[in-house]
Amino acid sequence: PPKINNRIIECYMALVSPSLLSADFADLRSALRLIENANADMVHLDVMDGVFVPNISFGFPVIMSVRRNTSLPLDVHLMITDPSRYVSQVRDCGAEIMNIHVEACSHLHRSIQLIRQAGMKAGVTLNPATPLVMLEEIINDIDIVMLMSVNPGFSGQTFIESTVDKVRRLKEMVARSGSKAKIEVDGGINLTTGRKVVDAGADILVAGNFVFKSDDPGSAVRNLQQL
Ligand code: DX5
Ligand code: ZN
Repeated sequence: PPKINNRIIECYMALVSPSLLSADFADLRSALRLIENANADMVHLDVMDGVFVPNISFGFPVIMSVRRNTSLPLDVHLMITDPSRYVSQVRDCGAEIMNIHVEACSHLHRSIQLIRQAGMKAGVTLNPATPLVMLEEIINDIDIVMLMSVNPGFSGQTFIESTVDKVRRLKEMVARSGSKAKIEVDGGINLTTGRKVVDAGADILVAGNFVFKSDDPGSAVRNLQQL
């Protein structure tokens, strides 16, 4: 008899959130068309302030323009200090998801409440060196946990392998607590690293270079979705 293939039994579509940080900023409209035609699930927007991370990317005016040019859900990743100052601006940009860093908030519980009260999904992001225990008291109050699989600030970096086990432990924590939080992974995702984190329990894959530096960004999105 044919062998039972566990991968097929466990198979489900990963959601893919292409990061515009790797796109041509002078031609974001084409980048959006490309990922829409590939049926990407959302679009990832990396905001940096040059303080929380050693780089500056773009801010709200750019996100507003993106909003006007796509119907994809906006997955906004704020790499800025004290992100709760900007809940209303992010909401006014029409974002569906507001991802904030644990390391950047002094009152994380309040920040999560503000994001949800503003009608957005609350995402909490952990840097590679930040332990999962930081989520213990809030795991039931959030919609997404995003694990950084590179140190934030730049696209095109190498995936940190220890993230795979961190995803597996996070999946257990989510199940144990009864939380409905989805697991998102950001940084160095390609078909090899993407498969590892999906097998470990990831639901959403962010991908910058793998999509936008590919010869065929559409297939890159679809291949990631099918992991
Ligand atoms: C890194 C950003 C990522 C980045 C991912 O600070 O948060 O979203 O754009 O890019 P890749 O997939 O190229 O690592
Ligand atoms: Zn990001």
